[in-house]
Amino acid sequence: MEYTTVILLSVLAIACIIYKHSTRKSLADIPGPEPESFLLGNLPQLFKEQVGESDFDWLKRFGGVVRLKAPFGVDMLWISDSKALQYIYQTSGYNFPKQPERRVISRLMGDHGLTWADGDTHRRQRKAMLPAFGTPEAKALVPIFHGCAEQLTLRWKEMITASPEGSSVFNIPRWVSGATLDAIGEAAFDYKFGALDNADNELARAYMNLLADIFAAPSRVKIFLQSVAHYIPMQIQEFFYDILPGKGLYKARTNRMVAHKIAHQLLEAKTQALSVDKTGRDVMSILVKANSSENEGTRLSEDEMIAQMRTIMLAGQETTSNSLSWTLLELAKQPEIQSRLREEIWAKEAEIRERGDSEFTASDLESMSYLQAVLRESLRFYPAVYHTFRQSGKDDVLPLAKPVTTRSGKVIQELPVPKGLRVILSIVAYNRDKDIWGEDADRFDPERWLDRKASRGPNLGVFSNLLTFAGGIRACIGWRFAIYELQAFLVELVSHFEFAVTEDVKRLRREASLVMVPTLDGEREKGAQLPLRISLVARE
Ligand code: HEM
Ligand SMILES: *[C@@H]1O[C@H](CO)[C@@H](O)[C@H](O)[C@H]1NC(C)=O
Repeated sequence: MEYTTVILLSVLAIACIIYKHSTRKSLADIPGPEPESFLLGNLPQLFKEQVGESDFDWLKRFGGVVRLKAPFGVDMLWISDSKALQYIYQTSGYNFPKQPERRVISRLMGDHGLTWADGDTHRRQRKAMLPAFGTPEAKALVPIFHGCAEQLTLRWKEMITASPEGSSVFNIPRWVSGATLDAIGEAAFDYKFGALDNADNELARAYMNLLADIFAAPSRVKIFLQSVAHYIPMQIQEFFYDILPGKGLYKARTNRMVAHKIAHQLLEAKTQALSVDKTGRDVMSILVKANSSENEGTRLSEDEMIAQMRTIMLAGQETTSNSLSWTLLELAKQPEIQSRLREEIWAKEAEIRERGDSEFTASDLESMSYLQAVLRESLRFYPAVYHTFRQSGKDDVLPLAKPVTTRSGKVIQELPVPKGLRVILSIVAYNRDKDIWGEDADRFDPERWLDRKASRGPNLGVFSNLLTFAGGIRACIGWRFAIYELQAFLVELVSHFEFAVTEDVKRLRREASLVMVPTLDGEREKGAQLPLRISLVARE
């Protein structure tokens, strides 16, 4: 069955390619790595290696613009050049839409919500959602994040105290993802997953390890099919995603069923609460309230509102939880950084006690310069979303920060691209670009953020010019939400615990599964794994 599909799609794709490409400009003169084969092009390098492995190599060998091959010799571009990225994300507006074969994946995981939408639909949806994602809204969620971090502290303390060695090895993602699931449930929907309490919650189960289970280590057939799907109308792709067999697709559909059921219940409850004038500060309540007062142009239908709930879970849960896991790994690897951060946290705690409070406020967090530096450096070094995908909506010209020397020896300052060209935007490579971050870009060093501006590039990323939350008109809408959540967890956990690496960490992989997930070599099928030794810190 699989092979018949492959053959059928190949024939169809070739026909379309010949038709579409008969008149187009070639990018043959742009340097790039040898394709692995005519059938797969460079896709195996792009999708199968660990996150960043190919990207760092390409950046070093070819610079910020690299020609790659899709199946059947079709050109694509891989881009980490800051000016080209700025143009695509920001300046060009909606002229670099998402690739249809990627949008159907968004639709599988988040229905016709914000990550799927494009053009005018995206503009309207985004406008309707923005009021829930501002700075005051994010700051108001700090106590919720702090509460969830405290729950995790309690659990870890219990287990460590019960262990004879006074320390235990924990699989960090297992715990962190439970805690952040509880956090996003409460902060976004005022919903209790009870993931940390091991409550048998079907929605929690539907979200545990979701992306790793569906997207990790794709087979060659899958990589091929996903790419040639480009030539098939989106509705037909969506139809296939809904009916084809497969473990990953099955998991995604179960997730959809469970999420829809609960989203409907929550939406009804919130609409009722609004009618008796009782609204919460969770994202969903703000959205429902905004919808009732907004003008017609920025309303969300009920289906769209349900879609946004799944979209927020998709875009906000595993991104944040994996970012936290990677940060804890780095702190375990570099104990000096960890203790310096702890000293700052303890000093701030003393200050808070002195003024008669017990909890960190958003401005307390912001006043901690070393925490801010560690947070930024960690987001730079471990961008949870490492690639994004677009295509040119028309014949266009990309500006370049750094000239490209073509294979025939010409030096070009800008790069003409044909309509329909697929581009892979490398967040992970931009975040390590030496022209932007300096010669030591490959080193994890929070120092670069203290007392100076770390980035030397054009205005690009929404947060400290990092590309981790992307930039421009469809930058991460939840970035403020994410950074306060990360800070609240870091402060709470580093205040109470010491983190140390274990032998197993030598086998650690940066698994590419839509987001970057830590796994262990030899046990990749077990999903997210990062075993760290945790002990209680002795307090004065
Ligand atoms: C460290 C955590 C996070 C990272 C690294 C991250 C990263 C990103 C990136 C790179 C994009 C752009 C994707 C693209 O253009 O294809 C994005 C979009 C998005 N993010 Fe985040 N995100 C994080 C947390 C969150 C949170 C907590 C939420 C919600 C509460 C969220 C909601 C969204 C949404 C809805 C979009 C789509 C925006 C649009 O297309 O207009 N994200 N995120
Ligand atoms: C938003 O408002 C419109 C118009 O009043 C309404 O039809 C729609 O159902 C509302 N959406 C939600 C999710 O309540």
